[in-house]
Amino acid sequence: VPFLRILGIETSCDETAAAVVERDAEGHSNVLSDVVLSQLDEHSAYGGVVPEIAARAHVEALDELIEEALKRANVSLNDVDAIAATSGPGLIGGLLVGLMTGKAIARAAGKPLYAINHLEGHALTARLTDGLSFPYLMLLVSGGHTQLILVRGVGQYERWGTTIDDALGEAFDKTAKLLGLPYPGGPAVERMARDGNSDRFDFPRPLVGEARLDFSFSGLKTAVRQAAQDIAPLSDQDVADICASFQKAVSRTLKDRIGRGLQRFKTEFPTTFPATGPATGPATGEKPALVVAGGVAANLELRGTLQALCDKNGFRFIAPPLHLCTDNAVMIAWAGLERMATGAAPDPLDVQPRSRW
Ligand code: KG4
Ligand code: ZN
Repeated sequence: VPFLRILGIETSCDETAAAVVERDAEGHSNVLSDVVLSQLDEHSAYGGVVPEIAARAHVEALDELIEEALKRANVSLNDVDAIAATSGPGLIGGLLVGLMTGKAIARAAGKPLYAINHLEGHALTARLTDGLSFPYLMLLVSGGHTQLILVRGVGQYERWGTTIDDALGEAFDKTAKLLGLPYPGGPAVERMARDGNSDRFDFPRPLVGEARLDFSFSGLKTAVRQAAQDIAPLSDQDVADICASFQKAVSRTLKDRIGRGLQRFKTEFPTTFPATGPATGPATGEKPALVVAGGVAANLELRGTLQALCDKNGFRFIAPPLHLCTDNAVMIAWAGLERMATGAAPDPLDVQPRSRW
């Protein structure tokens, strides 16, 4: 295994992030630095991410953040082997800032550039944190994405399911907003749900029972709005009951959808799971694994549901530490490292960001 050290840059949404990650000749990986600047305060007054504000905040913060990441890693640009920058999907303004900065550094320092798909970053993180070998299933649940992905190898991803309307984090955020709870909604809804009666409202569980592996959450949000209107004005207990019932419906939906995904995985990979790429951990005889990523993965009830589902189906449930589940640059550096390690050619310096990918 070649020794590799990569500088990663992430600017696709409302986190400005830079990180340095390395893997030594024995295959041991190390996060040398992990710097994240959240723009939460700048957006919370608007109840969501404002693209123009995000782009400007990235411009203002990124150079210093990269310097900070190098400093904390105790390395200079000469000591890194490549630059990895998120090139999509995401908000185009932020992507431009991060990718252009990555290109400029690559050009000035004479280093190769890897333009990284943000989802690939999420998808490969569990190999850094848990030494997972291919193939495995990944559930990405964030404010912008709800996807069930089969990760076959570096660069080999199959999307098995996605949302046909709202992302799950978006459903939490919208539900919170119409209940008068603060942004971001997920943590607020989870907190309120603790004191609520989850049986009070019977909210819909869209697509449950269907063979396809997709998700749908906009009907759930509509049902919450209706329930809130029917009993307005809402007491704190009403809000708590709605949150608990909402979370239960989400939980049941995930159980059904992901349960089917695990079954399909077992059908496609009936025996053991040999590594098909440069594995960093044990290869054969492992239990299959479901990895979760994205901000919604912070939700303890949903984690509990997924853990129980995995236990029942003979899967390992892997939830990387939260700061690596949410947006960060470690995962981008790591994805660049994995690509470089496979011998993949770097991207040309005229590579363009892609808002949708
Ligand atoms: O991955 P993330 O930090 O950012 C992106 O969307 O890229 O995810 C943020 C989303 C928000 O929608 C937020 O409401 C949700 O994750 N979230 C949660 C919880 N914590 C954050 N949703 C449910 N329960 C939580 N505890
Ligand atoms: Zn993300």
